[in-house]
Amino acid sequence: MTLLRDHAQGNGTRIDGETSDFAGRFVDAVDKLRRTVGRFWFVPPESGIAGGRYWRAGGDSWVAGFYSGMLWLAYVATNDELFKRAARSQHAYLVRRLDRRDRLDHDVGFLFLPSLVAEWMITGNVVARAHALDAADVLAGRYVENGRFIRAWNDDLYIGDGRVGWCNRGRMIIDTMMNLSLLFWAAEIRGCRTYADIAIAHAETAGDVLMRSDGSTFHTFEFDPESGAPKGPATYQGAHDRSIWSRGQAWAIYGFLNTYRHTGEERFLALSRAAADYVLDALAGQESLIPVWDFDVADDSAPIDSSAGAIIASGLIDLSETSPRNGDGRYADIAHAILSELVSCHSVADAPAADGLIVHGASNVPRGETNRVLPYGDFFFLEALGKTQGVRLSIW
Ligand code: GLY
Repeated sequence: MTLLRDHAQGNGTRIDGETSDFAGRFVDAVDKLRRTVGRFWFVPPESGIAGGRYWRAGGDSWVAGFYSGMLWLAYVATNDELFKRAARSQHAYLVRRLDRRDRLDHDVGFLFLPSLVAEWMITGNVVARAHALDAADVLAGRYVENGRFIRAWNDDLYIGDGRVGWCNRGRMIIDTMMNLSLLFWAAEIRGCRTYADIAIAHAETAGDVLMRSDGSTFHTFEFDPESGAPKGPATYQGAHDRSIWSRGQAWAIYGFLNTYRHTGEERFLALSRAAADYVLDALAGQESLIPVWDFDVADDSAPIDSSAGAIIASGLIDLSETSPRNGDGRYADIAHAILSELVSCHSVADAPAADGLIVHGASNVPRGETNRVLPYGDFFFLEALGKTQGVRLSIW
């Protein structure tokens, strides 16, 4: 495989002796995609379990944009039209989701950034741009003025404690930080400041209520949906309401960094650094650098989340290159160490029977969903490997 294009915003990262190994693993991953595209033509994959296989997505999956994102990365690296056609074959599935806006939620960024926004950026397809702008309208439409946050999820019936009612109406979550790039992109394309104002308001509120002074994060925070009065932190995927869900912490590093890159406002870079420093401290002295699914779980036998590791690695590579200060090499060093461990202990990229790239992802531990290949874990793994080779999508 020849890397044909360099979409790097910088000159890649400091890799030293690992460069050739990462290059080889990137080639393995692209070869894997070439072998699996037939199985996922038209229908993107969803998380899978046995033997590294994916399921085919259905329903309201929030992960349906990531396989397309991998295909665009492969296309950027190789210029092979197969990857472009395969990515486009999936976009009809995503666009159909816009017909049922009531079933979309804050994850439209995850659906449309790696797919149709990537297509627009790479090929200039204005139809892809129009659909992605529709998706940005969905996200902007979830903004709750009372409280200044983007509502995460749709209504869910709550039954418990002798009460019945709707939940989620006043809930914001840390994951949304990563979806804000869709709004910043729409602000630029449409020349309309409102999208960016919503994103900034949400990021400010997230910094205020989802981040603690030590850089750790709550998964979700609830407001009174009528008055906007703060109620308090809660979890959905973490160990308990005040715990530090690892993938949420990863979204915080990367998401606040993105907000800084779009706004130039140092306070968001400081939040990204604080979230990163929390992770670096938590991983210091650990035998493995792949986080346990929740940083508040001390049990050595607890499930790990390789997807959190991949997101952290990819985010830290960018953090090390963004307004670097003395000592920021530590972000790159940890990113490369995590990536090396993903390659050596968790990769199934060269296993012919597996669809995915890395195993041991934990999509939702409270629901028992552990030890899986996850399209988003795979996407961020490939994205991080790509960055080491000067191949990247500028979607975040
Ligand atoms: N909804 C994003 C996640 O589960 O990480």
